[in-house]
Formats: sequence, structure tokens, C-alpha cells
Amino acid sequence: MAFLNDNYLKLKAGYLFPEIGRRVKAFTDANPEAAKRLIRCGIGDVTEPLPEAVRTAMHKAVDELGERASFKGYGPEQGYEWLRAAIAMNDYRAHGIEVADDEIIVSDGSKCDTGNILDILGAANVIAVTDPVYPVYVDTNVMAGNTGEADAHGAYGRLVYLAGNEANGFIPPPPRGRVDVVYLCSPNNPTGSAATRAQLEEWVAYARANETLILFDAAYEAYITEPGVPHSIYEIPGARECAIEFRSFSKNGGFTGVRCAFVVVPKTLMARTASGESKPLHPLWLRRQTTKFNGVSYIVQRGAEALYSPGGKAQVRALVEHYLGNAAVLREGAHKAGWPTWGGVNAPYIWVKCPGGLTSWEMFDKMIGKANVVITPGAGFGAAGEGYFRISAFNSRANAEEVARRIIAL
Ligand code: MLT
Repeated sequence: MAFLNDNYLKLKAGYLFPEIGRRVKAFTDANPEAAKRLIRCGIGDVTEPLPEAVRTAMHKAVDELGERASFKGYGPEQGYEWLRAAIAMNDYRAHGIEVADDEIIVSDGSKCDTGNILDILGAANVIAVTDPVYPVYVDTNVMAGNTGEADAHGAYGRLVYLAGNEANGFIPPPPRGRVDVVYLCSPNNPTGSAATRAQLEEWVAYARANETLILFDAAYEAYITEPGVPHSIYEIPGARECAIEFRSFSKNGGFTGVRCAFVVVPKTLMARTASGESKPLHPLWLRRQTTKFNGVSYIVQRGAEALYSPGGKAQVRALVEHYLGNAAVLREGAHKAGWPTWGGVNAPYIWVKCPGGLTSWEMFDKMIGKANVVITPGAGFGAAGEGYFRISAFNSRANAEEVARRIIAL
């Protein structure tokens, strides 16, 4: 009999969103009438159609593959040069940020990238996560054997949890002690908070002083509306020496089902070998991707490239404004209900304090049972999420307005 990976047995329950799906199914099976009016504001999945610029580019790409002269088989594993150039130019150099085309590595999603990055990091690292946290950062470290067992609150041994709370606006400052790796997500999933320049400067200074690697997840960057909130960690001087950035087309271009994202690994970013030598991480990530991944399809990459055309940019803007408009409606509804909220200004998520001292799963039951609205319980994002819940603004405007009405009526 083969040995299994015992680390998987340390994982608590299922992954959060399938678990919510399971509970929603149990509710809808038992309540078929209520199921008809159910509105889903749980998983942050886009609802609006793909931008026209993307569809046009993808149709053209399909036709190219239908001709012998323009047919393509395997592409470069790290992405076509034209897409990497469009990303580096539009997302970075056009904003005065130094990133070379070949520092961009195209992939099929930030969820995969933030998990897969552990392949190129050693086993002895002390790893910090913020709490509440996107569960993928924690679970992939458990799977990789980087943690001990979970305690009664679901906190894993050997992981350093940095608590986000009302006092720090859900943006925890760097810890007193040193860690080797820290995951930061800004704008934040799940709390919707976004780190200011001063906060990111503090993190970069900490990382440089402690030789800490920052894994910076900027999947929600397109939702930043407030001036002065950095869109990239590389806006902070010195970040090229301490940070990897993850970005995605899921939430700006509506690619959650289409799948395309990228990682920026600066060539100036170093890490230590077991024998104490300093080596660049860029070749390791390239090696990992070229060995374990065959690249994103040509059709999808042409679709992603079209997001950078003038029409594509305008259509992305319209999509983001649509979801942020929903966020404003939902925030207003929660305010009218007297529920304290955070987020929804630089992010498509609203973080809400459970009324009446309810736990977050009690609030989940109340919202689905009484309002027929699916939300995500804060406890699913870590112990510090207990007592809060997340409402996703990814929906039609009519649904967002209906959810606001039901919240007020609750
Ligand atoms: C969420 O709801 O947190 C997102 O859908 C997560 C993701 O993008 O994987």
C-alpha cells in the first residue's frame, strides 16, 4: 500500500466554499420555495458577461487555430511574449514601476499560484498569515507540511497569525519577531480593507530589515478607488528585493471561469539555500512552471491581451464600476440596518459585524433561513473572523438592491 500525504489529514473540514455549497444545497433541498428566491452573495464569483473586446479577440484566436498556417500547439509555458509585454507595460511601466517583460509569468489563476509558490520555498520557513485570511494560503501550507496540527480554534501550529481587527482597521502591522515569509492581500479578501502607502512602506521596511519574503496578492487591485492606495507592492521602493506579486484577470476581466493570471518575480529577489548562499528566486519559479505547467491556452491569452486595448480598458472599468456600485448599495443597506461595515470602497467585499452577538455560522443560518441570502461566515477565514461575515458584491444590480432591502427588513 502506498503512503499518503499525512499533512492532508491535518486539514480542518472541507475547503470553505464547497462547504458553503454543501450547506446551501441542504437548505434548498429542504426548502424548495425559499430556494426560488435565494440570492448568492457567498463566493466571490463574477456574474456579468465577458467584455466584448475579449470575446472578439477569442473568436479571432479560435479562427486562427482553425487554419493550418496560423495553428498553434504548445505555447511558451510562461506565457506568450506579447501578453507578458502588454502586462508589464500597462500594469507597471506606464505607472512608473520598474518591471521587465520577462519578470511576468502567466498562469491559470492566483489561487493556483499562491499555493504552487510553496514548491520553490524551503521547508524550514516561519510563515505568517493575516487573520482573517484567504484560506488557500493556510491550507496549501498545511498540505506542504509547513505547519503543525490545528488547535481547537482551527489555528495551526508553526504558523504565525497576525490578527486583523477593528482597532487596526483589519490591516495588521508587521510582527515584533521575525518571520521568513508573509502573505499580504491588498485590497483584502475577505475584509475589503486596503493597505495605505504608509502601511506598505512599514511592511517593506520590515521585510528588508528581517530578510522576509512578502507574497503580495493584488488580485483585487482594479477595485482601488481611493487615491494614494498603492496598486502594486512595487510602488514601494525596495519591494523588488523582498516581494513577489500575484495578479489575476478573474475579478477585473470577469475571467473566473476563463482562467488567466500572472506572477511577478523580480530578478533582484533573492532567497537563501540550506547552506546559506543567496540565490535568485526567478529561475526557480520559471523552472517550476516550465516543468509542471503547459501554459494558458492561446485563445485565453489573446482574450487577456484584449483587456489592455482601449476598448478592453473601458469595458473593464465599466465592470468594476458595476460591482463597486453594488458594494455601495449593500453598504448602505447594512448601515440602515445598523450593522457596522468595512470594505466595499476599494474592494468588491463588504465585511460586516454580526448583529446581536451571533456567531458567524449562526448569522449564515439566519441570512439563508430568514432573508434567503447566502453570505460567507467570517469564521471560515480564521479565528479572528468570528463574529463577522462577508457579503460579496459580485451580482446583478437588481439582486444587490434586493439583498439590501432584505437586510433592512431582517
Ligand atoms: C472568494 O470568494 O474568496 C473568491 O472567490 C476566492 C477566489 O478567488 O478563489
